[in-house]
Amino acid sequence: FVRVLRSKGKKQVSLPGPWSFPIVGNLLQLGDHPYLTFMEMRKKYGDVFLIKLGMVPVVVVNGMEMVKQVLLKDGEHFGGRPNMHAFSSLAEGKSFSFSVNFGDSWKLHKKIASNALRTFSKAEAKSSTCSCLLEEHVVEEVSELVKVLAELTSKNGSFDPRSAVTCAVANVVCALCFGKRYDHGDEEFLKIVKTNDDILKASRAANPADFIPCFRYLPLRIINGPRVFYQALNQFIAQHVQDHLTTYDKNHMRDITDALIHTCHSKYAATKTATLNDDEIIGTVNDLFGAGFETVSTCLYWSFLYLICYPEIQAKIQEEIDENIGLKSPRFEDRKILPYTEAFINEIFRHASFIPFTIPHCTTADTTLNGCFIPRKTCTFINMYQVNHDETIWDDPALFRPERFLNEKKELNKSLVDKVLIFGMGIRKCLGEDVARNEVFIFITTVLQQLKLKKCRGAELDLTPIYGLAMKPKPYQLQAEPRSPGISCC
Ligand code: HEM
Repeated sequence: FVRVLRSKGKKQVSLPGPWSFPIVGNLLQLGDHPYLTFMEMRKKYGDVFLIKLGMVPVVVVNGMEMVKQVLLKDGEHFGGRPNMHAFSSLAEGKSFSFSVNFGDSWKLHKKIASNALRTFSKAEAKSSTCSCLLEEHVVEEVSELVKVLAELTSKNGSFDPRSAVTCAVANVVCALCFGKRYDHGDEEFLKIVKTNDDILKASRAANPADFIPCFRYLPLRIINGPRVFYQALNQFIAQHVQDHLTTYDKNHMRDITDALIHTCHSKYAATKTATLNDDEIIGTVNDLFGAGFETVSTCLYWSFLYLICYPEIQAKIQEEIDENIGLKSPRFEDRKILPYTEAFINEIFRHASFIPFTIPHCTTADTTLNGCFIPRKTCTFINMYQVNHDETIWDDPALFRPERFLNEKKELNKSLVDKVLIFGMGIRKCLGEDVARNEVFIFITTVLQQLKLKKCRGAELDLTPIYGLAMKPKPYQLQAEPRSPGISCC
């Protein structure tokens, strides 16, 4: 399968890969679940191979060693982003997560965003019972969520938890970014934060509109949906940031937006060197806000589904909570004393692999991989799903088994946890991993401490995902019954 190319007069070995059709390339072969198709192709072509989407060559990377090579050892050469149509309207092109810009100014941008998130989520809480501001916001939102879930059960018998979960998680990030929360019944807020399946489909790796430009002009919902969604989100964020710019007081930092304004304005005043302008501040808040609610709410939506699919696992988590923290409200520091719950969360990351590929990468210079030549600006897909289901790393990868992460002493096996690939790694790694892990832990433990989640009698549950950048389960219903007599449900 190895093809030989000529570049600058030198013979170069190119990557192996399947034969492709004219115009559409391999697009029609990808099926509904490209990460699975690539696992099949890997059997024939190895860890790294080349496909064509439309006329565009795309490198697909599988296998932990090759993924590490691309993301860590040769991270700078693979650290760019290709031009993705669905994201061109996100943050008016000022997104540091999705825009094609790469280089020193991008690195500065990511550092500023990362510092603002860290500084503000670790800022001192207003209440003495919480260790930091992030914990305080999460605790507040999950206690509201518990009430909403119990109310929905007593009102409707069963319900789809997606909107309630999305609203709770979006409120945490909204509180961090803007110091503001919205009511669960606020339809305007829900319209802004609730993605639909068209947007998920359009945001996936291997979206035809990214590779066959004429698709972009078709009047289809899947093509135009993201633009309408992102425009509404941009407007919502821009309005909040504008309000902050006018009311900003350097002696009184209210939230991440103030922290960003402070860093950028004071650095510029002191050194007159480039930082972020006000439009880029809006773009940065947009990145943190968007990444901060969609991923975590997807994770919780999956977690609730697995908990009703596997009631015996739910009971084990509840037993661990009851024995170790009783009725005390869970806190971040309790992660250390609830290893089974931590194992469950890692098994969700691995088994559901609800972000199957990283955001697509792109080479920033000519490079080689596995002895093969890859030119600059080559789009690269990193198949995290394959690593999370690789039989050489995981025993029975198709089984959902949290115990796999515990050693003989029932402690968390940290070196195995490090093998789960869901936040990416290297220069493009997710900057919200700590926030996400803490947040998911508090949501799951508090909900399970107070409620028993049950599937509806006779319901068939399906763990097959709907493919997208973040994969959602198909809609499902559950019931949430209060567990302890002392907890009020409405
Ligand atoms: C990027 C996963 C939560 C902010 C990413 C990437 C993944 C990821 C796979 C792409 C890495 C790559 O392209 O190589 C997740 C998961 C989360 C989560 C699974 C939750 C369970 C969060 C949170 C925030 C956040 C809570 C912020 C509040 C970001 C940002 C990027 C990113 C800004 C872009 C980084 C870049 O382009 O360099 N995340 N994320 N994420 N994530 Fe997360």
